[in-house]
Amino acid sequence: MELTGKVAVVTGASSGIGEATVAALAGQGMRVIAVARRRERLEALAGALPGVTAHPADVTDEAAVAALADRVRARERACHVLVAAAGATFGRRFRGPDDSAAVARAMDLNLGGTVRCFGAFADLLAASAPARAIAVASVAGKLAVGTSPAYAASKFATVGFVEGIAPDWRRRGVAVCQVNPGLVVTEGFPQQRVRASALGRRLVAGPDDVARAVVEVARRGTPERTVPRWYRPLVVGRHVAAPLYRLATRWA
Ligand SMILES: NC(=O)c1ccc[n+]([C@@H]2O[C@H](COP(=O)([O-])OP(=O)(O)OC[C@H]3O[C@@H](n4cnc5c(N)ncnc54)[C@H](OP(=O)(O)O)[C@@H]3O)[C@@H](O)[C@H]2O)c1
Repeated sequence: MELTGKVAVVTGASSGIGEATVAALAGQGMRVIAVARRRERLEALAGALPGVTAHPADVTDEAAVAALADRVRARERACHVLVAAAGATFGRRFRGPDDSAAVARAMDLNLGGTVRCFGAFADLLAASAPARAIAVASVAGKLAVGTSPAYAASKFATVGFVEGIAPDWRRRGVAVCQVNPGLVVTEGFPQQRVRASALGRRLVAGPDDVARAVVEVARRGTPERTVPRWYRPLVVGRHVAAPLYRLATRWA
């Protein structure tokens, strides 16, 4: 799909992967609506990049997401690419009832934010077809190792949601895609433990690596993309060789 001159909406746009994605899509000549809660960050981004508009909104707020879709429909009359990148991690362990709140918060933001945005933009994306609905899920949505159980649950659920709606949306001209990053250094995910070692520093990626993958996915409508690509054999291995995976994760 040609991106130049088309309209994109990106959530999680005030930092990290979302911010880099706004810049990458604007660099392709798209008009981009940048969404997150921190207004000043979005306005700085919009001031620095031609074609970018700031729209402060909380994706856990159904009415705010509906208002976002109404504004894009009224002003742009189309949405060709929706990128749901707003997300965060909550809690570190699950050991008792007090830890349930972290699971609920992760589900509300990571799964719920994606569901609300996809729902609010469904008809506009179909009316703008060919179009793309891209969820920034995670390798943690495939392998629940070394991550918060609440976060992994929300990302597994996001992957299930995306795969569940994809066949139906494809018939409406909308490719539903998952971009699954591995370890990426951002504000919300500083990766301090991993970066403490020389090997760890080689394993982490940057937000621009993910943004480039999102642009490629937006162009091609690729159903699933893992970034960096070397995580892919781990993801495949988990499904085709589950006993081996369990053995390997016994010490995680
Ligand atoms: N970094 C990694 O290692 C990694 C790996 C795999 C997947 N991911 C996923 O990539 C996505 C982006 O994360 P990141 O690494 O770029 O982290 P980040 O730099 O912390 O960015 C998170 C973004 O989400 C926004 N956000 C958080 N809560 C929100 C809410 N309620 N409503 C609207 N926006 C909200 C934040 O903006 P405001 O605070 O201004 O609202 C911020 O722009 C997340 O879904 C994350 O799970 C990250």
